[in-house]
Amino acid sequence: MSIINLEQFGEQFKALLDQKPEWPRLLEEGRGMLSELVSNPDWFKSTLTGLVLDQAFLQAQWQSIDPNDIQIYFSPDKAFSVRAFIWEPGVMYPIHDHGAWGIVGAHINQIRERKFERVDDGQDINHAEVKLTADATLSPGGTTFVLPMNEGIHQMQAVNNQVAVTIHVYGTPIRKGFIHYFDPHSNTAQRVYPPSIYKKMLAIKTLGSIPQPWAEEVLTKALHAPGPDYIQNECQYSLDKINS
Ligand SMILES: [Fe+2]
Repeated sequence: MSIINLEQFGEQFKALLDQKPEWPRLLEEGRGMLSELVSNPDWFKSTLTGLVLDQAFLQAQWQSIDPNDIQIYFSPDKAFSVRAFIWEPGVMYPIHDHGAWGIVGAHINQIRERKFERVDDGQDINHAEVKLTADATLSPGGTTFVLPMNEGIHQMQAVNNQVAVTIHVYGTPIRKGFIHYFDPHSNTAQRVYPPSIYKKMLAIKTLGSIPQPWAEEVLTKALHAPGPDYIQNECQYSLDKINS
C-alpha cells in the first residue's frame, strides 16, 4: 500500500527508525517512503490552506533559521521532523550546511539542487572554500539527501519561474543552534542563527571588532553566563579577535 498522507508517512518512518537501521538502509527505505508521499498531491492542500486561512496554524509556526521552513510534523519521540520548504523563483538561496541528516523530496514543481564539498582545511572558522560536485534538477517524486556538517553542503533553487515546494525529513541534530552559509566568491563561512537570538549574536560579533575594555567586559560576562555552548563559543571567538 502506498503512503498517501503525512500521518501514514510519520508512522512508517518511525517504524523504520525504531529498527535502528544503518544509514544506507535508512536512506534507501526512507527515500522510497518520501518519494511515495511527495508523489501524492492531495495531502499538502491542508498545509497551504492552513497557512493562508488559519491564523492559529500560522502562529504555531516557530521562527526557524530559514524563513521558508514550514514545520508540518514532529515524531512523538522527537527522532525526526518533517518540514515543507517553499522556494521562490528569482531568489538566490544561500549555499548552506545542516546540523542533521536530511532526506528531501520534490513535491510541487521542479527544484534545482547543487551539491558542494569543502576543500579548505577548516582551521579558520570564518573561512571556507567550497567546490561544486553535483548539479541536478528534481521533478515531483524525486528525492535527494544531506548529511550533517561538511557532508551535506548544498543549495536549492526554484526553476522555470515557478514556486517550488520540497518536503524534508530531518533527524536529531548533532550540532544545534546555527548553520553555515558559504560564499564561494569571498570564500567565507558565516554562522547563521535563528531570529530569536540573531540580534544578540550580531552584537557579540560586533563587540569582537571593538578593541576596548568595556567590550571585553561585556563579552566576558556573557561567556560566563549560563546558556548554550554556541553562544559561549561566539563570545570566545570575539574575545580571541579582540586579543589577537
Ligand atoms: Fe538544506
